[in-house]
Parts: sequence; structure tokens; C-alpha cells
Amino acid sequence: MRKPIILITGANGEMGHGLISALNKSGISNIIAMDLQTLDATISDKVMEPIIGNVLDKTLMEQINGEYEISAIYHLAALLSTRAEFSPQSAHDVNVDGTLNLLTLAAEQGRSQGKAIKFFFPSSIAVYGLPNLETKKSAAAILENQFCTPETMYGCNKIYSELLGSYFEKNYQRLAAQDLSGFVDFRSIRFPGIISAMTIPTGGTSDFAPEMLHAAAKGEKYDCFVRDDTQIPFMTMPDAISAISDLMRAPKKNLTQSVYNVRAFAPTAAELREKTLSFFPNAKIGTEISEKRQAIVDSWPQDCDDSAAKTDWNWQPKHDFETAFEEYLIPNITAIYNV
Ligand SMILES: NC(=O)c1ccc[n+]([C@@H]2O[C@H](COP(=O)([O-])OP(=O)(O)OC[C@H]3O[C@@H](n4cnc5c(N)ncnc54)[C@H](O)[C@@H]3O)[C@@H](O)[C@H]2O)c1
Repeated sequence: MRKPIILITGANGEMGHGLISALNKSGISNIIAMDLQTLDATISDKVMEPIIGNVLDKTLMEQINGEYEISAIYHLAALLSTRAEFSPQSAHDVNVDGTLNLLTLAAEQGRSQGKAIKFFFPSSIAVYGLPNLETKKSAAAILENQFCTPETMYGCNKIYSELLGSYFEKNYQRLAAQDLSGFVDFRSIRFPGIISAMTIPTGGTSDFAPEMLHAAAKGEKYDCFVRDDTQIPFMTMPDAISAISDLMRAPKKNLTQSVYNVRAFAPTAAELREKTLSFFPNAKIGTEISEKRQAIVDSWPQDCDDSAAKTDWNWQPKHDFETAFEEYLIPNITAIYNV
């Protein structure tokens, strides 16, 4: 008998920390947690087995397929937007080939179990590409099918992976004698920038918001790498994790699409700085614009329309801009840094 488990890749990342803690809180501990790095002590006791491994390792995928009966896959492993732009070939390998390997594993598991395996894929607002600032301003909150012309390797990887997921669900090996579609239940969220009180991100291009806040709490000077008027949507990590749980729990018949926008608030960089200063008045927050990273953020939408998620699976963020700081970020960050 194969052991029944949930597989999480990229488990040691920011989202993995939040997801493993939330699953554990809800009584789920039969988790196989895969990452290139050793799992942090804070989460290692919340999983059944940590695996140090690479999503590109097909032999490892075969071993996992043989040993476990997978009920759901949360495929979080990725190279994020800034890192991907420095190493586009590696990003394509990890973000596309890695996803293909996990989808293939899901399809094989689905076929052997005779049912669809739930597959969660975290996509990003990086799939959007607004051609200029005028269009970004006038478009305001955009829908899932608008401006899907990403300018970054990461955005290209994410949108292609979304398409791959739908292909595996609906059309996989459609010319084979036996019908092999329907063994993957692919569900994806296009996340905005995510702000965690517990961890500091690395390698993303929306990192200016969490970096600013964590630096202020630590009493360190921070130079924001985008202009004051820069605006993209954000949400807190607990809301990101709730969104994943809500979407994964939703009855399939309610889902009218496989990829959904979610958002909670969309402040400008100046508003983020003001809000941070209101809690840490002595913080030193300057600006040192990185033109190249600025151009990437300028190509991302000012906000996104998440009405489909609200209608189909009752998505509702818990934190708005005010309560994100007052109830989640500040109490946790001040406790972590002892300020
Ligand atoms: N954090 C955000 O703001 C945000 C926004 C939108 C989407 N996302 C997506 O959510 C997912 C998780 O993001 P995160 O913030 O936790 O990122 P992260 O960088 O903190 O974590 C990614 C993890 O994946 C692991 N990893 C990288 N390459 C791997 C490989 N080849 N094999 C196995 N593991 C590998 C890394 O070691 C790391 O622990 C990613 O797919 C990311 O694109 C994140």
C-alpha cells in the first residue's frame, strides 16, 4: 500500500512556511515537504517527511510516485521575478520544466487512483504586461483575460504554466487511445505582492513593500527601489494562505475558470512609506530608484479585479490596508524584532 500524503514543493519558501503552518493547524500533517534547502526548524516538525530535492529530478518524481498516494499537490517551487531576470535559462528550467514534472506526476497519480488529483499552482500578477504608464492608469483594476502579455521571463513562465495546467486537466494526450484527461484538477491563483510579518522575501520585484517594513522594524535604513507613485496590489501572507485553502476546498462545479485574481489593497509606494512611518516614526526610508526593476513594476497592473474569485468561491480578504498593519504586520513584526 502506498502512503496517503499531500506533496508541497518549494516548502521552505515564504509561502511554504505559511501553508505548512496553516495545514498543520487544521490537523493535516501527512505532508511531504520538498525543497532544495533543508526545512527550517520552525516547520520541520509539522510535516511527515522533508525531502531535500530538486523538482527537475525525474528519478525523484518516480520514487515519490511509487512510494506515496498523493491526494493534493501544492507546487510552490519557483525562481522569482528578479532572480529569473538574472538567470532566465535556470528560471525557465525550474518554473516551466519543474511544473511539467509535477503535472506529469499528478496525471500518473490520478490515473492510478482513478480520480482527479488536486493541483495548486501559485501564479502572479507578473503574467500581465501593461505597455506604458498611461495604459496602466486608465486600465485600473484589470480582469484575468486582459493584458496577458508579460515582459519578464518569470511572467512568461507563469502564464505558460497556467496553460499547461489547463491542458493537463482538459486535453492531456488527447490523441491517445485511452482518454487521459480529467486526472488533474488544476487550480491557480494570480497573487499580487505578498507581505509576510514572519519572513523577508528574496528575489521578487514586489519586495520593496516587505523590505521597507522589516528594515524599519529592525531600525535599518532602507532605500526603496521604485518611485513614490508606483502602485501595484498587495495582500498579507495569512490572506494568501486563506485564498489557497478556500480555492482548494471549493466544489469543482462552482469554478468557472481555473485561474483567479485575488487582491486586498493597492497602495502607492509613498502610501506604504507613510504607513510604515506612522508606526516607526524614526525609520529612515529613502529612495534609490532601480530603473530596470521600476520598469518591471510599471508593467504590472495598478490593481486587479477579483470579482470572479468572490463569486465562485466566496473569496474575501481579512485584511485591508489599515488592518493589515494594525492587526497582523505590526504586532508580529515588533514581537519578532523585540521592539
Ligand atoms: N511571495 C510573493 O509575493 C509571490 C507572489 C506571487 C506568486 N508567488 C509564487 O508563490 C510561490 C512561492 O513563493 P515564495 O514567496 O514562497 O518564494 P520563495 O522564493 O520564498 O520560495 C521558493 C522555494 O522554492 C525552492 N526551490 C527553488 N527552486 C527549486 C527546485 N528546483 N526544486 C525544489 N525547490 C526549489 C526554494 O529553495 C525556496 O525555498 C512561487 O511559485 C512564487 O512564484 C509568490
